[in-house]
Amino acid sequence: MLELRNVSLFLEEKRILSNLSMEFDDGKRYVVLGNNGTGKSTIANMIVGVERYKPQVGGVYLDGKNITSLGVYERAKLGITIAFQESVNFEGITTFDYLTLGGKIKASYNDAKRALELAGLNSEYLKRRVDDSLSGGERKRIELASILMLKMRYVILDEPDSGIDMMSLDTISRIINTLNSSGVTVITITHREEIARNGDYAYLICSGTVLREGVPANIASYYKKLCDRCDHPNEIVESSERAEA
Ligand SMILES: Nc1ncnc2c1ncn2[C@@H]1O[C@H](COP(=O)(O)OP(=O)(O)O)[C@@H](O)[C@H]1O
Ligand SMILES: [Mg+2]
Repeated sequence: MLELRNVSLFLEEKRILSNLSMEFDDGKRYVVLGNNGTGKSTIANMIVGVERYKPQVGGVYLDGKNITSLGVYERAKLGITIAFQESVNFEGITTFDYLTLGGKIKASYNDAKRALELAGLNSEYLKRRVDDSLSGGERKRIELASILMLKMRYVILDEPDSGIDMMSLDTISRIINTLNSSGVTVITITHREEIARNGDYAYLICSGTVLREGVPANIASYYKKLCDRCDHPNEIVESSERAEA
């Protein structure tokens, strides 16, 4: 189990996360839902171990062990990874090499083809170089395909549809469900309530803390009703307002 235990994070003296606790059991599909600016990507960065986002209070735990001091690379070795909201790390190698980490992943051409197709690109792209000649959306799809190739224990998808025109709900669900059926715990971050419905458990984030948690359909409906018109995403909510939905 992966946990955030009562974490608080301050960046430049601003409180970004406030006494936030979350649990991620193995093999489930989680959703982290919330308006823009509520702290979702910050949570993702904290889970994967980005240095700047280490909590000043509380900690990150894996199977009961405190892993707060571990960096991104060490956590990746423990099976925790992310597809960032903004694509990163492109080096001009071919898509096939990118997807197989230059041969480090034992995978066939067909495995790569299947992953790419699941992310909505045809196999022509396997020969293409991953560089500026690709659109942002194509790069993002290739990154999602690469996540499908990795055998990770926890995968965070931060706004998987961001920057991709016409990324259908279906495609996102298929990626989540494919990962999950191979045993991966998927944590999908989104501000879209319809995406949040495809999960086993949901957390609603407001002002850097968990406002509600529970059945995705209930959380999504609550969000739609109350958070749509919310104009105070940066006020810290008292932890006593946290409730099960
Ligand atoms: N490196 C940083 N330095 C200062 N403030 C930051 C930094 N990263 C995020 N924030 C602030 O933290 C808040 C939450 O941001 P973020 O986690 O990206 O929200 P979300 O992903 O929910 O849209 C925002 O107010 C943002 O400006
Ligand atoms: Mg974000």
